[in-house]
Amino acid sequence: MSDAIRVTRTTTKREKPKDKDLSFGNVFTDHMFVVDFQEEKGWYDPRVEPYGPLSLDPATAVLHYGQSLFEGLKAFRGKDGRIRLFRPDKHVRRLNRTAERMCIPALDPELVLKSWTTVVDVDRDWVPSAGGTSLYIRPTIIASEAFLGVRPAKEYLYYVILSPVGAYYPEGMNPVRIKVIDKYVRAVPGGLGEAKTAANYAASLYAAEEAKHEGFTQVLWLDGVHRKYIEEVGTMNIMLKIGDEVITPPLNGSLLAGVTRDSVLALTREWGLYVSERLVSIDEVVDAADKGTLREVWGTGTAAVISPVGELVYKDRKIVVNGGRIGELTQRLYDTIVDIQYGTVADTRGWTLEV
Ligand SMILES: Cc1ncc(COP(=O)(O)O)c(C=O)c1O
Repeated sequence: MSDAIRVTRTTTKREKPKDKDLSFGNVFTDHMFVVDFQEEKGWYDPRVEPYGPLSLDPATAVLHYGQSLFEGLKAFRGKDGRIRLFRPDKHVRRLNRTAERMCIPALDPELVLKSWTTVVDVDRDWVPSAGGTSLYIRPTIIASEAFLGVRPAKEYLYYVILSPVGAYYPEGMNPVRIKVIDKYVRAVPGGLGEAKTAANYAASLYAAEEAKHEGFTQVLWLDGVHRKYIEEVGTMNIMLKIGDEVITPPLNGSLLAGVTRDSVLALTREWGLYVSERLVSIDEVVDAADKGTLREVWGTGTAAVISPVGELVYKDRKIVVNGGRIGELTQRLYDTIVDIQYGTVADTRGWTLEV
C-alpha cells in the first residue's frame, strides 16, 4: 500500500475540556484516521478527516457477528513538552495478531504506526499536560460489508480515534477489592481470549456487573477449563509476589499478551528478581496467604499501568494482601514505567516513540 496520507482538517474545532475535568473515554479530538479495505483493492485511501459519525448499513456484518478488533495505547506529554507513545511497535504486532485470529486482512505495520503518529500529530494540541493525564489512542477495525451470511467479510474499515483522558489515580494509587469468580468464564485456550476483540469484553460484562453490585471493583477470572488457575483481573493481566517469586500466568491462549505485562517482566528480570510465567491456582494463593508468604498482588494494563490489589474474596474466604496497602514492588514498577512514559527518566530500552 503506497498511497500518500490525505489530511482534511476540520473547519469547526471542538471545545477542549480543562485537564482537571478529564475522565475516561467521553471526549474525542477534532480528527480521526481512516483506511478502507475491499477485496479487489486491499487497504486503500489512508486519510485523516474530521472526527464524526460513521454511516453504516443496518446489515453491516460487524453489527451482527462482531468481526472486529481494537487496540489501546497512549500518548504522553512530558514536562519537556515532548509527546511520546509507549511501545507502539508492540501494539502494532498485537493488532495484526488479532486481525489474523479474526480473519481480518493484515495491515502494513508501517501504515499502522504512521496512522497513530500522523493523527496524534494533527491533534497534538489535544495531548493534555497535567500530571497523569494522556491522550488515549483507540485503533479499531470493523467488518463493514453489508451482508448477513456467516463468513469473513469482504470489506473493512480501519479507524483511529483519540480521547484525552484524566489521571487514573487522581488521589494516588489505591488498592482495590476483587472478587474471584468461578461461576462465569471469560475465555478458554483455543478461543478468543488472546485476541483484542469485542466479544471478550461483551463476555465479561455480566460477571463484572454482578461483582460491582456486591461492592467489588472487579473480578479475578479463573481459567475456563478447570476454574482453578488465575488468569486476568478485569481487563488487566495479573501478577503476584509469593515469597521472593514474582509470578504471572503464562500466555497459553486464553489471556491477552499485555504490553504492560511484558514491560513489567522485562523490568523485574532486569532488576534480578526471581520471575516466573507459570500456572498459579487460586488454592496456591489461599495457601500462601495462610502461610504469610503472599506479599503483593497487582494488575497491569495501559489504563492504570499498575493497579494494586488490596483484597481478594474467593467463595467465603477473604484474603487481605499486604495489609491492604500498596506493596514496595508494586509502587516501584508504577513509578518506573510512568517515568519512562513521561520522559522523566531517559528511555534506555527504546520503549518510547516521539511524535
Ligand atoms: C483483557 C485484557 N487483558 C490485559 C490487558 C492489558 O494489556 P496492555 O498492558 O497491553 O494494556 C488489556 C488491555 O488493556 C485487556 O483488555
